Amino acid sequence: MHGVWGSRWTFILAATGSAVGLGNIWKFPYITGENGGGAFVLMYLACILLAGVPVMMAEVLLGRRGRMSPIHTMQHMTEEQGAPKAFAGLGWMGAVAGFFILSFYSVIAGWTLAYVVKMAMGDFSGAGAEVASAAFSDLLGSPWALLGWHTLFMAMTGFVIARGVKHGLEDSVRLMMPMLFVMLLVLLGYALTTPGFAQGFDFMFSFDTSKLNSSSIVVALGHSFFTLSLGMGAMMAYGAYMPGKASLTKTVMTVAVLDTLVALVAGLIIFPIVFSNGMEPAAGPGLMFQTLPIAFGALPAGSLIGTVFFLLVVVAAWSSAISIAEPAVAWCVEKGISRGKATFAVCALAWLLGIGTVLSFNVMGDVKFLRGTFFDNLDFLTSNLMMPLGGVAIALFVGWFMKRKDVADEVRIKNKALFNVWMFVLRFISPLAILYIFVKGLG
Ligand code: TRP
Repeated sequence: MHGVWGSRWTFILAATGSAVGLGNIWKFPYITGENGGGAFVLMYLACILLAGVPVMMAEVLLGRRGRMSPIHTMQHMTEEQGAPKAFAGLGWMGAVAGFFILSFYSVIAGWTLAYVVKMAMGDFSGAGAEVASAAFSDLLGSPWALLGWHTLFMAMTGFVIARGVKHGLEDSVRLMMPMLFVMLLVLLGYALTTPGFAQGFDFMFSFDTSKLNSSSIVVALGHSFFTLSLGMGAMMAYGAYMPGKASLTKTVMTVAVLDTLVALVAGLIIFPIVFSNGMEPAAGPGLMFQTLPIAFGALPAGSLIGTVFFLLVVVAAWSSAISIAEPAVAWCVEKGISRGKATFAVCALAWLLGIGTVLSFNVMGDVKFLRGTFFDNLDFLTSNLMMPLGGVAIALFVGWFMKRKDVADEVRIKNKALFNVWMFVLRFISPLAILYIFVKGLG
């Protein structure tokens, strides 16, 4: 009832648009910094391969077979396959997780909007580490400014969703993703000329387990789900619009590889700048906003390049935000609510919740409980608990409760050995690994 993407490539574009976002450019570098670098990167890559890719195939498969919003798809699939009723709750958990994620995602995306303006005004030309850090603290210190940018980003997101994913997004993603790639390469070129490049490279790729802390593996797993948009129904919703003939394996691999490349390149840009300017790799959520302006400040025509770059980050975040809201909106539409009204309701609710994140960086910055600020807790709850739990459920459902023949019909992997490997990973490795890490995370 929602229509189908024009081709396999449209799905790849939309799914890549969903996957590549703040997670790659903002979150991956800062959590890598907080978790000591190389060993963390290796764990993250292992999580992508052993849990991310197999689960993503399963999630897209479910969506394509169910052809509805995740909530209805899971209800339908649970009945069709005679699986325990609890699996029907998966769609619901995803919708709730979507609200949580969208609420803080929009606030951070708002920072990138603010940086487009700062760049365009030339605030950073010739700026060093101090100027860059001060500008960032000033922004975070003003709740009204943050609220304004958050509101603008949420409105932008709602605007595209209300128009339907196809027309709103497809065209912009087609143009912007390649541009983002080129810009990242330009910045990588700059990073290569900085004195800290070797140290930055080393930081990212030298395997030093002593720098890991007890929650590093939980964060790595959570991030591999976050960055691939897994475990809460976004990929299921997009899979529902995927043409029936397209190869699942190739499609999913393409998305995963592109997503991983963007994250690694972002790290290779940011850490050399960190070390060249005597900054802290463990600076936290502000890392990207305090390092990149220095690079732009040093480049010829840096203000211009910087403006374009942050615009592209905005677009990357935009195409991700839409996929976070899509499951809830699609469900409302199936319930007979108009797309416009559904969009408004979903965005308004997420906007309201977002105020908690806005305040986490200033007025309520000292209010810490469990994992830290309100924002820290929301991030932990979604990335490290809800999404992995959703991932386990998806792996178990497709691995154990779906008829093998139906699974084979959907994936159509011609190579039998490859199919068996995937099934084995899905049945045993992914759920056990996720559960182990999950339990560890609770402790
Ligand atoms: N993957 C996106 C990023 O890395 C964020 C995102 C989009 C997401 N859709 C999602 C995260 C669904 C969790 C669930 O920025």
